[in-house]
Amino acid sequence: MRSVIDIVDLSVEEIDGLIDVASDIIENPKKYSEKCKGKKLATLFFEPSTRTRLSFEAAMIELGGNVIGFSSANSSSASKGESVADTAKVISCYADIIAMRHPLEGAPLVAALNASIPVINAGDGGHKHPTQTLADLLTIKREKGRLNNLTVGFCGDLKYGRTVHSLLGALSRYTGIKVVLISPEELMVPAYVKHDILEKNNMDYVETTDLESALPSLDVLYMTRVQQERFADVEEYERLKDSYILTAEKMEKAKSDTIVLHPLPRVNEISVAIDKDDRACYFKQVLNGKYMRMALILKLLEIREKDDSPFTIDREDFVYSTYKCHNKKCISMVEQELVNIAKPSETDQSVLRCVYCDKKVN
Ligand code: NCD
Repeated sequence: MRSVIDIVDLSVEEIDGLIDVASDIIENPKKYSEKCKGKKLATLFFEPSTRTRLSFEAAMIELGGNVIGFSSANSSSASKGESVADTAKVISCYADIIAMRHPLEGAPLVAALNASIPVINAGDGGHKHPTQTLADLLTIKREKGRLNNLTVGFCGDLKYGRTVHSLLGALSRYTGIKVVLISPEELMVPAYVKHDILEKNNMDYVETTDLESALPSLDVLYMTRVQQERFADVEEYERLKDSYILTAEKMEKAKSDTIVLHPLPRVNEISVAIDKDDRACYFKQVLNGKYMRMALILKLLEIREKDDSPFTIDREDFVYSTYKCHNKKCISMVEQELVNIAKPSETDQSVLRCVYCDKKVN
């Protein structure tokens, strides 16, 4: 059985296949309107969300299926102390597929390892967000006509912005990609992203604090919000929150066909005046997210019909129990009964990383 926890759980061919199905859904929605008749999607959202949860729900409804779930941890048994593993086992008795969002890194992986139905990671803390990446890829493909040979700028909170980490993972598998990472020093991409995505794949990347000088070279500008809820220090958030504000004046420096993406919600990092600019694609991105989620739900349910063996990550090079993760935002720090699993870093075998959150453990 397949679950999608990380975007690299899908091969490039599979992503291309999802883009084809999503494009067909856009052209022929009626053809798909009963494909999931009798099936149930459970949306388990332990953290607030507007578009991702409603996008999953709309996707399932447009496939003719039904939706159950909750939209905050307070309204679930997590508030009574239930573990993610137990929740996943329970929900497997009610639904055919799960979409889970959780503030702790690695929680959807724990769910996938314990559920008997496919699990889709709908965002885990500041870690990964693969279905937003599917929305991003379909938008880039439709607007630019290609996923190769692009200069992509990421701007804002590259440390906690999980959508950035996942999109970088996806782009690492296409050719001719140049990446410009634009952030304050304090919000640069985490070390595991730098080593295991950018360096491992020999990606052409530069880091800068200067948006304006980067703008003229970009084909795609991916703006992000500074992620207030992930800061331990309120003063640091206050100091950094307005680091980058994209204005119409700054957009004059961009190419006439540069597209501007944003996973939303926007706070104030893109001036509302830009919404009228043809290059602003963030609302199209929302719609594309629904179509890609429809394509993904269909694919995972089809795979499950043929193969209902449990989802597993057992691999020979994993190291069990010897190391303890110390990342306070990792599910393994909070749910003490979880088996500690570490894996060697892809670029340096002597560095071990926690399987749940990817942070260094030795
Ligand atoms: C993003 C997320 O949840 O990580 N939003 C989304 O999925 N649409 C980005 C964000 O919250 O800033």
